[in-house]
Amino acid sequence: MLADNMDGRKSTGIPKLDDLIEGGIINDSIMMLEGDAGTGKSTMAVQYLLAGIKAGEKGVYVSVDESKKSLYRNMVRFGFNLEEYDNAGALLFHELKPHQMREFLDKGVLGIEEQLIAMKAQRLVLDSITAFALLYETDAKQRSAVHNLFDKIRNWGLTTLIIAESAEENHQFGLRYLVDGWIKLSRKKVGQERIRTIEVLKMRGTKHDTNEIVYRIEKNGINLYPSERMLGGDL
Ligand SMILES: Nc1ncnc2c1ncn2[C@@H]1O[C@H](COP(=O)(O)OP(=O)(O)O)[C@@H](O)[C@H]1O
Ligand SMILES: [Mg+2]
Repeated sequence: MLADNMDGRKSTGIPKLDDLIEGGIINDSIMMLEGDAGTGKSTMAVQYLLAGIKAGEKGVYVSVDESKKSLYRNMVRFGFNLEEYDNAGALLFHELKPHQMREFLDKGVLGIEEQLIAMKAQRLVLDSITAFALLYETDAKQRSAVHNLFDKIRNWGLTTLIIAESAEENHQFGLRYLVDGWIKLSRKKVGQERIRTIEVLKMRGTKHDTNEIVYRIEKNGINLYPSERMLGGDL
């Protein structure tokens, strides 16, 4: 499998999602993956890193929401053996406390930057940015922290997935304006049934699909079902 296709895009690890965005995420771009708890954000982020790893790219997962032990254990259920890739040096997991994340955002310390450069990582996941919003006293400080972070990420040449919990307007950090792309996961009630949908809300430099597409979390991870028509309905 090619992780990096001809026009400088990276596979998301989900073929039917790649189809919606001209083949994948533009190299070096910063994407926001938004959704409520339990919508599959971490699972999708792991699939994204694995697509790279399978093609020889290295990936880094920075987490404040879930411990390494918990994520690695949960991913085994989908047949994703993260321990093995970690041991082989293809995957690096950093578990940060929120105050350490602030240190990382403000000063880039903690040795993470050095490790990213040393291992020549190409894919980064930040899971999640939401908790950090509370660490800054003012909106202006939040925005400046995120600007710093984005500058660093762009310098490192990483293609990045930033996970955000859904929030009213999701205006923390003004992220939706700063990121290059924005994908949203939702749960909806249609009749008696709860369905999961994915939407591409923004994708710079890309002619993307704008429909809400049904997805399911199945035993091999997240799968999209573009042919299933949405019948409408609200949460
Ligand atoms: N083996 C599985 N088969 C089907 N669905 C699963 C399985 N394991 C977890 N899930 C679903 O995935 C959800 C958690 O996915 P996760 O990626 O951790 O979500 P998030 O990071 O958005 O909170 C669970 O709430 C559950 O609905
Ligand atoms: Mg999660």
